[in-house]
Amino acid sequence: MSTTYTIDTSTSRAHPTPSPVRRLTVPAIRDHKGKQPLVVLTAYTVRMAQLLDPHCDLLLVGDSLGQVIYGLPSTIPVSLDMMCAHGAAVVRGSWHSVVVVDMPFGSYEASPAQAFESAARILKETGAAAVKLEGGAVMAETVAFLSARGIPVIGHIGLTPQAVNALGGYAARGRSEAEAAKILSDARAIDAAGAFAIVVEGVVEPLAIAITEAVACPTIGIGASAQCDGQVLVIDDMLGMFERVPRFVKRFDDVAARISAAAERYAADVRARTFPGPEQTYQPKN
Ligand code: KIV
Repeated sequence: MSTTYTIDTSTSRAHPTPSPVRRLTVPAIRDHKGKQPLVVLTAYTVRMAQLLDPHCDLLLVGDSLGQVIYGLPSTIPVSLDMMCAHGAAVVRGSWHSVVVVDMPFGSYEASPAQAFESAARILKETGAAAVKLEGGAVMAETVAFLSARGIPVIGHIGLTPQAVNALGGYAARGRSEAEAAKILSDARAIDAAGAFAIVVEGVVEPLAIAITEAVACPTIGIGASAQCDGQVLVIDDMLGMFERVPRFVKRFDDVAARISAAAERYAADVRARTFPGPEQTYQPKN
């Protein structure tokens, strides 16, 4: 899909791409298996999508927006309305990456029909190409149902944050043989059901490698292994927006410190009446 922007730049801060390009497609992502690793970041807003899009293959509108954007304690309270609003913003801010929107907790687990209704709403209201949902073998029927009806699906196994209440926390998974075997069979089930990629979160490295070797679709690791077919991180984590980050996150910047320093300089200028200066102040024409 290519996107042509008709944004009025005299009234909008949005910066459209000057020449529309063809967007990557779901089949192109699937074809990455065993090739150059897929680059995936989360995005929740239009401006961030514009900045990340040229560097990514996939932009994930993760339900992590619950914590990152809304300050919620987990992803459990995230709603379809939130996902649709942020999904549409990310699609508006991108022209190259495949945009995938997370299905929030409670919007898909009851039945394949419920999942179809929610996923169809997401695709219609956002323009995204695909959805992601959490769960292993128990969600295979739903993945097959959606895939067969034109809704591409990414699976998400291992540490599944929407199951935090059942798991009892966010600890790495697959440390025992039995748990590793269960997660591997989850991966196989989701793959056989037609997922075009699988996010593998918070598992020990040998399991991530075994899953990557066992499935036909690309695996996208987060806290998993460099041997996955791609990597994803929460954008605010990798930018250094939070004081505490999980062990598997590498901070590629310290943006929180830079924002704080800029706000400090602004406050000093305002209090000293050195902002606004002559360059930022209108005078009558004479
Ligand atoms: O919600 C999210 O951001 C995610 C990624 C961490 C994979 O699911």
